[in-house]
Amino acid sequence: GPHTVSTVADLRAQVQAWRGEGLRVALVPTMGALHEGHMSLIRRAKMLADRVVVSVFVNPTQFGPNEDFGRYPRQLEQDRFKIGMAGGHLVYAPTVEEMYPAGFATTISVSGVSSGLCGDARPGHFDGVATVVCKLLLQALPDVAIFGEKDWQQLAVIRRMATDLNVPVSIEGAPIVREMDGLAMSSRNAYLTDDERAVANHLYKTLKQIADDIDEGVDVGQACAWGMGELGRKGFAAVDYLEVRDAETLEPVDTVTRPARVLAAAFLGKTRLIDNVACGVK
Ligand code: PAJ
Repeated sequence: GPHTVSTVADLRAQVQAWRGEGLRVALVPTMGALHEGHMSLIRRAKMLADRVVVSVFVNPTQFGPNEDFGRYPRQLEQDRFKIGMAGGHLVYAPTVEEMYPAGFATTISVSGVSSGLCGDARPGHFDGVATVVCKLLLQALPDVAIFGEKDWQQLAVIRRMATDLNVPVSIEGAPIVREMDGLAMSSRNAYLTDDERAVANHLYKTLKQIADDIDEGVDVGQACAWGMGELGRKGFAAVDYLEVRDAETLEPVDTVTRPARVLAAAFLGKTRLIDNVACGVK
């Protein structure tokens, strides 16, 4: 597998050596359990830079007390192999102690885009994300960092944080990679039972139908109300949210006049799935 480092000092030494040679460096932050969605970010990174660093760190501070931090899949050896196959050059896999040494006391909180949607459903989640991503960007100091549109609100939070804090790294978004039936790839799909997996793609199908309906003139509220019912009928036990928001500001919209996003989070059994699709872009 590719060279692996676990300390900030070793990471910086390698990235600075590359940049000293005039090479462009990209960072792809992940929590591991890599799938084709992550691979697409690595491939995009290779188009944008000469060297690609992939971080693998299951960040405890972005998980709530009753969430899946403990059982989140950890498979560094498989991940290293996949990163090598995709052409990644360096794996950064720090320990929790390296990221959060004794005495750690700083939290980055991005207001506005962090509220609503997953921010309401997962209190503190985006503080954890903004803080760890800020740290990763400052630790590696790459030219560019790539994030998936699968986590649309996360991408908005990260863009806001990097802009507001003058972090000298360009933030790139990459499209959602889906399974053949439309289900957005996610490390959490591994939690689904066979029966749950068989209906999981209805999250995407429903969002797509809502987006198409809105683009054909159906009222936003009406389209979302239909979607809520549809998810229930397909077996989603609880829907955290199903909303249409402005694609950039994430402000709620009731009439689509600019690019917007239909976003949802819903539970199949104990597994929480999220997805989003574009609307209003034609
Ligand atoms: P993780 O869930 O491992 O995702 C890492 C990156 O892969 C994120 O940018 C995410 O949006 C992207 N990604 C996941 N599934 C995708 C898919 N189906 N298509 C395209 N991109 C996809 O997101 C995180 O980790 C963490 O919050 C992190 C940013 C690493 C901070 O801890």
